[in-house]
Amino acid sequence: MTRAYVHGYDASEQQRLQDQAASLVDLLHSDTTYEAGALVLEAGCGVGAQTVTLAANSPHARIVSIDVSQPSLAQARDAVDAAGLTNVEFRHADIFALPFAKETFDHVFVCFVLEHLVDPAGALERLKHVLKPGGAITVIEGDHGSAYHFPRSDFARRAIACQVELQARAGGNALVGREVYPLLASAGFADVRVSPRMVYVDGSRPHLIEGFTKKTFTAMIEGVREPALDAGLMTAADFDRGIADLYRAAADDGVFCYTFFKGVARKARALPPDFSRACVPADTEEKKSFADLQRSGGAQN
Ligand SMILES: C[S@@+](CC[C@H](N)C(=O)[O-])C[C@H]1O[C@@H](n2cnc3c(N)ncnc32)[C@H](O)[C@@H]1O
Repeated sequence: MTRAYVHGYDASEQQRLQDQAASLVDLLHSDTTYEAGALVLEAGCGVGAQTVTLAANSPHARIVSIDVSQPSLAQARDAVDAAGLTNVEFRHADIFALPFAKETFDHVFVCFVLEHLVDPAGALERLKHVLKPGGAITVIEGDHGSAYHFPRSDFARRAIACQVELQARAGGNALVGREVYPLLASAGFADVRVSPRMVYVDGSRPHLIEGFTKKTFTAMIEGVREPALDAGLMTAADFDRGIADLYRAAADDGVFCYTFFKGVARKARALPPDFSRACVPADTEEKKSFADLQRSGGAQN
């Protein structure tokens, strides 16, 4: 269900994931903590960029972090060890073949993973299967359609569109942020709430200029230069102009905006059998007794 991972696994991409996480810690994590003793599945942990924050913010919860990439897992282990955290266990596992029993976890956390999957709905089904009733799932995704900047540039817009197109060709969806609500709702989760988290960057926020506009977003678009040119999506000159214009938006008088979508939902508890019988709507009862009356010849038209 996972095709070629569009960002790849090279060193610059691993650094980009760390920069992304560092610049977004408060925005994405400030309202996520897990209770003491909770068992939490982090699906698609990558190099551990979110794992370190998850584990540090919930020191008395136990985090099980999985990924399909062994090299990423090794880096994630190093990052967690370097942070002195002891409440994380790493497993090499695929979301579509989870090696856990039904209803193992109290909570599930997934960040920047659905965008790479051919079947994000199927992934949510599998994650729901291993989540306990009453437990929460947290899903965080970006949406490249939410990116805008000043000065405006058609070249930059087209370079961003190259990333969207290449990710789609690899079976993913760089516009999945807008689908977090419908995906969670159609997977049968209850109490679905999605909050958009906008990153707004201007000259007064130099840490975000470096950490987000340059090292996270523009570095990601720059990373698809070769495949975009190979696919004939843009000429080299136009693509390079687009990247230059994104860096221009990172100047002191430039502006860059991007929105992430954080969804939190619950796996509903099953109703006890008697309760569901007691909840037969009144009009159903009426229809039943009307049908009974007809059968017994008691109803007259
Ligand atoms: C963009 S990275 C995000 C990593 C991390 N969650 C973060 O926010 O930095 C996506 C990760 O999902 C992993 N992944 C993709 N498909 C997967 C699958 N089917 N099962 C488990 N992990 C998967 C990739 O190997 C990659 O490490």
